Amino acid sequence: MNAEMLYALRDPAGVPSHPLVFLLLGVLTFALHIAAVQVMLGASALVLRGAFSDQLHWRRLATTMLNTAKIAVSVAIVIGVAPLLFVQVLYDPFWYTSNVLSARWVIGFILLLIAGYIAMYGFYWRNPQLATKPARSRWMMMLSLALLLLVGWIMHVLSYQMLWPEQWQQWYAPQGRIDASGSGLHAYSVARFGFFIALSAPVAGAWLVAVRRYLQGAGEGDAAYLAFLARLARRLMLLGGVLSLAIGALWLLTLPEKMAFFASSPWMLAALVLLLVAVALPTLLGDRLERGLWGYGVFGVGAVALIAVAAAREMLRYTLLSGVYGYDALDYKTNMDWYSTLTFFITFGVLGSVTLGYLLAVAWQSGQHRSAVYTPSLAVTRFGRWSVGLLVVWIAHYFLIGFYTMVR
Ligand code: HEM
Repeated sequence: MNAEMLYALRDPAGVPSHPLVFLLLGVLTFALHIAAVQVMLGASALVLRGAFSDQLHWRRLATTMLNTAKIAVSVAIVIGVAPLLFVQVLYDPFWYTSNVLSARWVIGFILLLIAGYIAMYGFYWRNPQLATKPARSRWMMMLSLALLLLVGWIMHVLSYQMLWPEQWQQWYAPQGRIDASGSGLHAYSVARFGFFIALSAPVAGAWLVAVRRYLQGAGEGDAAYLAFLARLARRLMLLGGVLSLAIGALWLLTLPEKMAFFASSPWMLAALVLLLVAVALPTLLGDRLERGLWGYGVFGVGAVALIAVAAAREMLRYTLLSGVYGYDALDYKTNMDWYSTLTFFITFGVLGSVTLGYLLAVAWQSGQHRSAVYTPSLAVTRFGRWSVGLLVVWIAHYFLIGFYTMVR
């Protein structure tokens, strides 16, 4: 596959904003996606651990983590759409070819995801009193975790097959005979996938540090439970961090020759340093974790480290495709469309922060509230009115621009 062929597969209409905008948004939204995935996997694993335990602290944690996992799946799915859009726009010759070569898996992806999510809810419905009674139908939670991992594996293969244009023809027509079934998964790296999955352990640890701080702020009376959370969080961060770095090192050591440059790239080294800082932070902060916002800061630093990992991952793809295959994602023809660009950023920045900010404020304050009924303050209620008002304006604008485009 030469560079001309790859360029010929591009959308002749070009992209509606500078390609760098899509590249940066792709990195940022992938980091958000993978953070939600890791919270989801970490929380699910803790649910399973709790479901097999008869210790009350583990059972209580399993109940909380089941709620976290249910929400994290939906966040991972919703935020997963964003990098999907950006990778399609910027790397369409690669992404679509990879998808067509494994078309059955791409379609099956949705069904497996639905089955995994239903299995998680099945476990939830079967265990309304998970905190106190023995867990029932644990197989459902195991099935859910297995299916969610399979979904992630499909995403990994699709991302990885993109990086092997010289193999596409061979995969499509092995020994010259066309196989249009789309039933194969052709290229993968167990170590690369394992690295992203193993990071779920320190991410879950950082999440638990924040959960513990939140409970403390809400006046949690069970000091033994808080101590249990502190121990578990530190163990997950340290041991999980070491495990992730070991698997990451294996990924770097087993890189194919054309990707070998990545092992010493400054992007990768910066990501490594930030991961180390995030993993060591609870130990460095010590007692400060008990005060102010420090307990939440650990997850914040972890999120920054994940953005660095996402940036390094993108540099691997960008540098490989431009250096080895002569395909520069940043020279995509730009057909500037200010209207859609501004709509995107205003939706993302203004609408996104106001509505999400409101939901988070209500969820936060109601959880920290001591009395039985929570009544939001005047400021929070006004915040809510703004969120609803902005959503109404956004929906009206959506239909108005649609009608305007139709009748124009
Ligand atoms: C719920 C289970 C999921 C898991 C465990 C998961 C896990 C992963 C992992 C590990 C990667 C990195 C692969 C690599 O670079 O080797 C990835 C990439 C990706 N995921 Fe997910 N994912 C899940 C669901 C989804 C969903 C539902 C979507 C879309 C709606 C999605 C969209 C993406 C995209 C677009 C990428 C690649 C982005 C790129 O190459 O720039 N994922 N996912």
